[in-house]
Amino acid sequence: MLAKVEKAFKELLTCLQTAKMYGTMHPMFQKSLDKAYAAFEDVLAQRQEMVIGIVGDELAFEKEILFDLGKLLRSAILYLKERNIERLAFYSGLSKEELGKFVGLLAGPKEDFKTDPQVLLVHIGVQNISIGKLKVDGRKENDILAGNQLELYNSSMDRVSQVLSSVLNSEKIDPLGLKFSLNNIIDSLGTQRQELLKLATVKRYDAEIYVHMLNVSIFAMYFASRLGFEKNDILDIGVAALFHDIGKLYISRKTLHKPDKLSEQEFNRIKSHTVLGAEFMFEYVDSLGILPVVVSFEHHLKYDSSGYPRMPLLRKQHIVSSIVAICDVYDALSQRRGYKQDYSPDVVYNIMNKDRGSAFDPELLDKFFRFMGFWPVGSVVALNDGSIALVKDENESDIRRPKVEIVFPKDKRRLVDLIQDNSLSIERYLNPWKEGREYLQLA
Ligand SMILES: [Fe+2]
Ligand SMILES: [Fe+2]
Repeated sequence: MLAKVEKAFKELLTCLQTAKMYGTMHPMFQKSLDKAYAAFEDVLAQRQEMVIGIVGDELAFEKEILFDLGKLLRSAILYLKERNIERLAFYSGLSKEELGKFVGLLAGPKEDFKTDPQVLLVHIGVQNISIGKLKVDGRKENDILAGNQLELYNSSMDRVSQVLSSVLNSEKIDPLGLKFSLNNIIDSLGTQRQELLKLATVKRYDAEIYVHMLNVSIFAMYFASRLGFEKNDILDIGVAALFHDIGKLYISRKTLHKPDKLSEQEFNRIKSHTVLGAEFMFEYVDSLGILPVVVSFEHHLKYDSSGYPRMPLLRKQHIVSSIVAICDVYDALSQRRGYKQDYSPDVVYNIMNKDRGSAFDPELLDKFFRFMGFWPVGSVVALNDGSIALVKDENESDIRRPKVEIVFPKDKRRLVDLIQDNSLSIERYLNPWKEGREYLQLA
């Protein structure tokens, strides 16, 4: 595979040189474009995408810094860097026409790249290539390339809070930038799924509601990808999920966080976040599409339509609203799991399954837990032999018996697949903020 990637990249550079020498209308260019495209097809026939990054002066493929291709490549790297390109992703479905347009763009003057290069690509109709910077706010490039999910989560968090506050102030938003950063999350869900989901289940911030919205978006994109949605749809679902509670930001914190029983009026006020949110998102239909409107409006409607807002005519939830509704409740309950001791994953599972068929689409709910696992990745659990383990990966065939790593006692350290080792089982969950805390560091 590495050799194929290397070949594709070399052909791309040759093609670029030809374009610079002869222009893109010359038969020579067509010839080298044919060759380059064949090399890309070769790679993309075997994988969904090919992501190349520039770190320092090296070229990297996925997590590894790969090849030292000598002086020719050095100037190419410089060429790309001058155009603010540090990351190139090519997706399966790439057409020769798109590749040709992309090379044509690259061959142009570097002044063309003063604006966000991704915008340029979209402008000329190239969908299956994305380009941009690796670096986020001067954070270490190596960290991001090495798949540092915390960086990714944090930078997405920044982007999310920015976008949300723009929507609240009825300002213009940058839909492309938003999609680009959610796209990074999708990329990571492919290879670094555990790490990222762990962050969404364990990592907590002060800005509770922003965290909630980003988490729901991450869960929804992961869920949608496992359900087999196309990448473009996953992205749209992620965007819709991100804004599902936007209406809440307009309701006073006092009402939202009131510990005592709410008056009917207060409760109605909270319920209105659905309609309010839909109204907000309606302003962005042109750039973000209709899904955010639908999902804001429907995410509390419930599967059997018994929720709110009440509708004069029976209306069934859109499937994306059903997906978001599951992720929404899951995150809300899991947040309680973070701080309080009362909601361990088994409790969350039981609470949600009580509403199977009423609040939640039963089939979707089953699938959700099959993909997420009963004990989420990153959980600290006590086993029946008294050892302590971290959950590493789910087993879809038996969601209660994941793959775990025993971390304590130290001399027992090892990976165990609970499906294979029947003598061991999970006895109980340790709260990561309390008793489980010391074991998290042993990971
Ligand atoms: Fe909500
Ligand atoms: Fe929510």
